[in-house]
Amino acid sequence: MVGEEHVSMIPAAPSEVWSAEVNGQNQEVLAPSNAILLDVLRDKAGCLGVKRGCDMGTCGCCTVLIDGEPRLSCLTMAQDAAGCSITTVEGLADGAHLAPIQQCFADHGGSQCGFCTPGFLITSQALLTKNSNPTDKEVACAIEGNLCRCTGYQQIIESIQAAAAIHRGESESARPASDAHPDPHPSGPEEPTMPPGHAR
Ligand code: FES
Ligand code: FES
Repeated sequence: MVGEEHVSMIPAAPSEVWSAEVNGQNQEVLAPSNAILLDVLRDKAGCLGVKRGCDMGTCGCCTVLIDGEPRLSCLTMAQDAAGCSITTVEGLADGAHLAPIQQCFADHGGSQCGFCTPGFLITSQALLTKNSNPTDKEVACAIEGNLCRCTGYQQIIESIQAAAAIHRGESESARPASDAHPDPHPSGPEEPTMPPGHAR
């Protein structure tokens, strides 16, 4: 009806200050008091590497480390993680240097479309931090909550085992730490220009 004001059926939750250490940096943002951690990380903290797959705890794409433990951010209230140390996939690399688990996924075909990869990397990192010599069965158990529609899992297990060997010091990272990866999406003067007619 013209002029009728829309009245929300569910009152919005009041906003509160939410703060935590995200990838080594203190974050302090305003978020609804009932916000889900996945939303706060993506929409407020800018961590777009945290993927929303199923939004119901079945795919593992949204996995982050909370005080070192892998947790599904789509099932975690942001307030429950306030004050914690949170690591997303953006926090795995050391500056321009990939973590061994990231390098091994790239080298061993552990990632194809890549949508599931952030969750696998975080879950794998949690495993390797606790156990750098896992059996294939232990690897399979660790990643049983992460779904991948592309790789068939064998390459993922091989990637994790290759990273485990690096953690044990039995194998060298494919690229030495001094070999920085160039930023594929540089900004500033190095930013590639788009052809005419293409919106950025
Ligand atoms: S988005 Fe969280 S488990 Fe799928
Ligand atoms: S690489 Fe595509 S879903 Fe896993």
